[in-house]
Amino acid sequence: MSGFIHVGSATRLTKLTRGSSRVYPCNGEDVAVFRTRDGYVAVSDTCPHMGASLSHGRLAGNQLECSWHEWKFNTDTGVSDARDWCCLNVYDVRIEKDELYLRLRVRPEKPPEKGSASTPADDDWPEWDPDRFFKKPKDHGND
Ligand code: FES
Repeated sequence: MSGFIHVGSATRLTKLTRGSSRVYPCNGEDVAVFRTRDGYVAVSDTCPHMGASLSHGRLAGNQLECSWHEWKFNTDTGVSDARDWCCLNVYDVRIEKDELYLRLRVRPEKPPEKGSASTPADDDWPEWDPDRFFKKPKDHGND
């Protein structure tokens, strides 16, 4: 099991329904381990956009959608569809004798450094429209 780190008991994982997750500390970060149809996927729990817990995100196929601003991350590569420099750590998952082991997967290619020509300036992001994500106060009228 070269490179795998023991992170705890896997019994909590076996009780998960498909698409739900548990968080384990590993490699100096929190890692969200999701149950899938075929097994498990594991990625960094902290969204690189504004820090939401991705364990509350929605997993569909290999796309994990952050619950805060709907950025999507590929759970095979960790790359975001919103910003190519925005990348999660992806872990290989192994369960042996009810114990969970994770191994940091090597990224397919290094994303550009923040501040390089292909990354946005600080004032460029996010381009999201807050009205789309936050509930508007109800108009109670004057009656
Ligand atoms: S915090 Fe995850 S998309 Fe904004």
